[in-house]
Amino acid sequence: MSEPQATRPPPLRSLSGIKPTGMPHWGNYFGMIQPALRLAEEGTGLYFIADYHALTTVRDAQRLRDDSYGIAATLLACGLDPKSTTLWRQSDVPEVQELTWILSCVTGFGLIERAHAFKDARANGRDVGFGLVAYPVLMAADILMFDSDVVPVGKDQVQHLEFARDMAGYFNVQFLGSSCHDSEGAWDGRGLKFPKPVVQKAGAVVPGLDGRKMSKSYDNHIPMFASKKDLKKRVMAIVTDSLALEEPKDPVGCTVYELYQLFASEAQVAEMAAKLRAGGYGYGHAKLDLLAAAEDTFGVLRSRYDAWMADRDALEAVLQEGALRARSIAAPVMARVREAVGLPARPMGG
Ligand code: ADP
Ligand code: TRP
Repeated sequence: MSEPQATRPPPLRSLSGIKPTGMPHWGNYFGMIQPALRLAEEGTGLYFIADYHALTTVRDAQRLRDDSYGIAATLLACGLDPKSTTLWRQSDVPEVQELTWILSCVTGFGLIERAHAFKDARANGRDVGFGLVAYPVLMAADILMFDSDVVPVGKDQVQHLEFARDMAGYFNVQFLGSSCHDSEGAWDGRGLKFPKPVVQKAGAVVPGLDGRKMSKSYDNHIPMFASKKDLKKRVMAIVTDSLALEEPKDPVGCTVYELYQLFASEAQVAEMAAKLRAGGYGYGHAKLDLLAAAEDTFGVLRSRYDAWMADRDALEAVLQEGALRARSIAAPVMARVREAVGLPARPMGG
């Protein structure tokens, strides 16, 4: 007689997207890429290149294409295994646009007006394009389209995650008369599933050259695979106070030290802190130590990145295969949604 099988919970499905707007930087790596790839190892990983989202700002077709390959190559270089993890381009899964429309029909403008990006644009008197208004709805569709359990993102994306949950709730209540989740958050399989954000704790916000959040938009970022020469230039440009070499320095609040913590072991970090406090160790020394530690982490990854970038056909093959798998997950969810709202059933993927 066979032993009764212990019922194991199904593996967590984690999903995340990254915009193809230039080469990813250290903040993207520690805030999103690294935690996302770790999660993918624990369950089912779904990762896509958010090219529709990039279109809110990018106006150069060749750049969009190149940067999309660049993101794919980065994720693969960082260890994404395309056999076990699905990687695709957002625009290769048209179901997402269909769900975006349906979600926009249940979303009030009050929610959109609370969105940080929208509020910032308005406060700065910038013209608010409809793409910016629709941005959180498209992002909710990305997430809800695949019954995602967890969404690893940096701190700045948490509001978008909350919006995705809100929109799933509006959809479920308006079309099915219930949130479809119990008080513990367990889903009953109808409507749209609520996702959870996973925010990286250590290094939740990676500082940039000027100590503000590292971001392409502040031009204070350090690209992951910059050439050694450019990397050195960027690291040497990190802003510090002007204490002389021999003076003791406080590691707390020192950007070089904060960045070093992302790469170095505990012992190495303690050593740098002690050297800074003791004096006789300048910021220039600390920057060289940071550079060496970063090279230890990114050196090997950079060669793998270069190899993938030199083979666009191989990248395209990974993305096409990923799109097929992603569409096969999206199709039954879309069928459920169409049924719930009263749209006719359609053949798979049609
Ligand atoms: P950028 O601000 O440079 O345009 P994105 O907005 O494209 O970066 O961010 C892509 C992902 O990387 C998001 O999940 C975001 O939260 C994360 N991320 C970006 N910058 C940082 C940072 N400085 N620290 C931690 N995570 C970050
Ligand atoms: N808005 C995200 C960013 O700027 C990118 C993104 C698009 C995303 N769709 C997503 C992230 C879905 C997680 C899940 O970084």
